Amino acid sequence: MDDSRRKLYEGKAKIVWEAGPGEAGPGAEAARTYIVEYKDDATAFDGKKRGRIGGKGRVNNLVSALLFDLLEREGVPTHFVRTLGDREMLVRRVKIIPVEVVVRNVAAGSLAKRLGLEEGAPLARTVLEHYYKSDELGDPLINRYHLRTLDLAADPEIDRMESLALRINDILGGALEECGLRLIDFKLEFGRTDTGEVILADEISPDTCRFWDTETNEKLDKDRFRRDLGDVEEAYEEVLRRVTAGAEKWRVRRRGARASGGERPAHARGEWPAHARVFVTLKSTVLDPQGAAVENALRTLGYDEVKSVRVGKFITLELTHLSPERVDEMCRRLLANPVIEDYRFEVVPATAPPAGSPPPGAPTGTGGKGQ
Ligand SMILES: Nc1ncnc2c1ncn2[C@@H]1O[C@H](COP(=O)(O)OP(=O)(O)OP(=O)(O)O)[C@@H](O)[C@H]1O
Ligand SMILES: [Mg+2]
Repeated sequence: MDDSRRKLYEGKAKIVWEAGPGEAGPGAEAARTYIVEYKDDATAFDGKKRGRIGGKGRVNNLVSALLFDLLEREGVPTHFVRTLGDREMLVRRVKIIPVEVVVRNVAAGSLAKRLGLEEGAPLARTVLEHYYKSDELGDPLINRYHLRTLDLAADPEIDRMESLALRINDILGGALEECGLRLIDFKLEFGRTDTGEVILADEISPDTCRFWDTETNEKLDKDRFRRDLGDVEEAYEEVLRRVTAGAEKWRVRRRGARASGGERPAHARGEWPAHARVFVTLKSTVLDPQGAAVENALRTLGYDEVKSVRVGKFITLELTHLSPERVDEMCRRLLANPVIEDYRFEVVPATAPPAGSPPPGAPTGTGGKGQ
């Protein structure tokens, strides 16, 4: 570390530094960047519970870096520039908008308590919440009216934060699922750059997200510290291991997508109409009350051969052009909730391909991920 650094702010989990000479690269870049150092200190319940989690700073720095990098590649603007070591990253300096945006897929923590929901109950729709970042007030839950009254953000900024938060949920939910992590909920902070752009800032780590193992629902996040569940360091290290392995897969896939993009035949580029059929079911690990009711009813009617029933959705789409990638995106973004549902789809051309084009295989775009 450079001794000439100036400490700008020390929070509960991180320190924000102004970079010393030469630390942040050329002058213009240095002027617009800060260094964030991640600490092992841990707090919970508005600072009432305090402790240390060995290795946490390193895990949170590296996990945040990998997830910011993924988001950037997917077109989400973030403050991440590059890592500077195990515990530090260079970030774009922003004025933090004093609002925490929380995205929830499954009931847990304060939401479960507030609404009387059982922890682990899947939410039929993604829930988005705002909290006012104010230590004195204990970060209260607020709505859009409060946001406007307190003049915390302009309406277009609120819209932007919300749409980015939902997009981030889609991207991270799918990517983490591949690492064996269920994204239960998470907290985001956004900031304004010098030019007024709203970008994602702060961190994305086991301190700010709830991650449960996809198979066992074991908690792999700060709840282990909050609730004295033990093996806290191990859980943090496990998240880093899984996200690091996942990042390797995400990079390979992107390289593959780029490499094959230019050579795809006309029919694969989807230049004629298509039908898509999408099948959505609850994941086998998720309770399906409707399925259970149908199962009971069938048994009551004497259909003893029925072993189990899962009820799902069947959606048909008429498309102007054939694009399995777009249908996959529609599934992830709207048609299915990848955290609690599996989906599968087929895309087939609606009409014969134009003369001279290679015939599409039928079905053309089977796919979908068993997420
Ligand atoms: N790119 C950035 N530019 C400026 N500030 C940032 C940036 N990214 C994060 N921050 C701010 O840096 C601080 C990081 O410290 P830390 O997370 O430890 O704070 P904290 O104890 O949670 O307190 P609080 O977030 O309530 O200020 C936070 O205030 C966060 O909002
Ligand atoms: Mg913080």
